[in-house]
Amino acid sequence: MAERSSFVVVANRLPVDEVMVDGERQWRPSPGGLVTALHPVLAQQRGTWIGWAGGDGEAPEPFELEGIKIHPVPLSAEELERYYEGQSNATIWPLYHDAVETPVYKRRWREAYRLVNQRFAQAAADVAEQGATVWVQDYQLQLVPAMLREMRPDLRIGFFLHIPFPPIELFMQMPFRAEILRGLLGADLVGFQQRLAAQNFVRLARHLLGLRYEGQSIQVDGRKVKAGAFPISIDTADMERMAADPAVQARAKQIRAELGDPETVILGVDRLDYTKGIELRLKAFRELLADGKLKVPEAVMVQVATPSRERVEHYQTLRVKVEREVGRINGEFGRVGMPAVHYLHQSYSKQELAALYVAADVMMVTPLRDGMNLVAKEYVACRANGGGALVLSEFAGAATELRQAFLCNPHDPDGVKDALLRAVGAEPAELKRRMRVMQRHLRTHDVAEWARTFLNELGVPDTDATPAPDEG
Ligand code: ADP
Ligand code: F6P
Repeated sequence: MAERSSFVVVANRLPVDEVMVDGERQWRPSPGGLVTALHPVLAQQRGTWIGWAGGDGEAPEPFELEGIKIHPVPLSAEELERYYEGQSNATIWPLYHDAVETPVYKRRWREAYRLVNQRFAQAAADVAEQGATVWVQDYQLQLVPAMLREMRPDLRIGFFLHIPFPPIELFMQMPFRAEILRGLLGADLVGFQQRLAAQNFVRLARHLLGLRYEGQSIQVDGRKVKAGAFPISIDTADMERMAADPAVQARAKQIRAELGDPETVILGVDRLDYTKGIELRLKAFRELLADGKLKVPEAVMVQVATPSRERVEHYQTLRVKVEREVGRINGEFGRVGMPAVHYLHQSYSKQELAALYVAADVMMVTPLRDGMNLVAKEYVACRANGGGALVLSEFAGAATELRQAFLCNPHDPDGVKDALLRAVGAEPAELKRRMRVMQRHLRTHDVAEWARTFLNELGVPDTDATPAPDEG
């Protein structure tokens, strides 16, 4: 049997990308905050990451990459449609985001969700050594903690939800609500982005299952399950380093030149997702152009809308709406060779994103609901020169920490317009002051700190203090 691990991460996606080199399939690490934060503990504890490698059909054999054991889990084409696109992204995703789109409920999706969660749980049970720590990630795998506890009561199990956790009245819509809740309660520690989400969870446990709780601690079958808030963050130092790189600085200048050296570059960077408030942001920009409060070419907008979940109907509808709005704005306010909105439905390297952040005078992050929103934090980390303004929705988890942003209510179009105008017109000294406070916060509250805090609460000692286990 393959060597087992004392630390296991279970997430829907693996932290690797498949690349073809000379016609041969190879794997390279995919850049991401989560894997960066967990790398030290994974490497020191001969850890395993269990996840889906992308694509359908047979999974690749387990392999090792940069000290992490990678354990791929297969998904068939039908499971992809039902578990990933259906139950995860057409039922749970909209429901947990305040039902800003109507959740779709289908029994066959639920069945597939159970089956796939069981497969992930089995994989974790197979690779975890006696008494190991298993950290399960996110809404795609909410049944895994209880399934795993059933198979392996010796394990220490943590769960972290990266997206919001809804209030009781919304959660109660879910047809298999008690099963989901019991799934989560299989963990020893359930982490959320926000304090309010943790409160929703403990109250739900009493409301739905009649469980007793004290503070944030729920009594379940003679065990204690703790709930808590652990706001996730970014690798701040790495982002700052990248933004200071002369190549990134030069690229930022080039981007501004390519945009016609406008006075104001307004930027949006999001997955093309209906929770992100892309349409309302475009509408605010259009109305300000129509009101004559902003003018092209003095002000231009760049909207990066990363392709996402493209086979899910909500996402297809959104794309049509966003692209129609971009066309409308450019039709009304653009000139030959000078669009008002530069719309980019593409993925970029981290360096190119950093250059865009450096180039932007105003960053617009206007989700209707968002667990955290790392883009907002990345923008702040990239503004080492102290300039730049962040317009931030109060409904993003990041708004709890980034209080010096230009906060707005995304449901109020006039409020969004006002925040954007205040950001555009703010004095450089004020912008610097705001940015400095937010940067200081992110330097101490980075993703490594997030992982450390969660794991400490789960009972895992500090990574740095954890000696590498003996060989053999
Ligand atoms: P979500 O998890 O909902 O997608 P976040 O803002 O929390 O939203 O995280 C998005 C992450 O994806 C950020 O780290 C951001 O840099 C990255 N990202 C967003 N758009 C692109 C893109 N077009 N190309 C590459 N990375 C992107
Ligand atoms: O933050 C929520 C989340 O679903 C993550 O789990 C995921 O990494 C990201 O958004 C992108 O979504 P997907 O894996 O569906 O492409």
